[in-house]
Amino acid sequence: NTESTSETKVLRVGTSADYAPFEFVDTKVSDDIIGFDIDLANLIAERLGYELQITNSDFNSLIPGLQADKFDFVISGMTPTEEREKVVDFSNAYYETEQYMVSLKENNITTMDDLKGKVVGA
Ligand code: ARG
Repeated sequence: NTESTSETKVLRVGTSADYAPFEFVDTKVSDDIIGFDIDLANLIAERLGYELQITNSDFNSLIPGLQADKFDFVISGMTPTEEREKVVDFSNAYYETEQYMVSLKENNITTMDDLKGKVVGA
């Protein structure tokens, strides 16, 4: 897709912004769609010399949106399934993890409630 005004090339991405921290609406500050996937999509667009145009869509409408040429690609924490693989191509996995928050043993923090009184503002 190269349809755009003057010099700016537009890359159209579809996402379902209901899946924090990957894609969600920043209701507290900007009302922008933000998150890990959005950062990644922006980086890809920037590296390729495109301007990213984000469309928020129901998760189940993302693949149909691709098929209807509404998006150039989708980033939405989407996992391959047999069903989906029949109609779309998946990239290599970009997020696979086992990572944890860490605190000192002496603080005995094992639940969110344990943070009370031990963290400024909690
Ligand atoms: N990984 C799951 C899937 O592919 C859930 C993804 C949900 N993503 C979202 N933006 N709501 O079905």
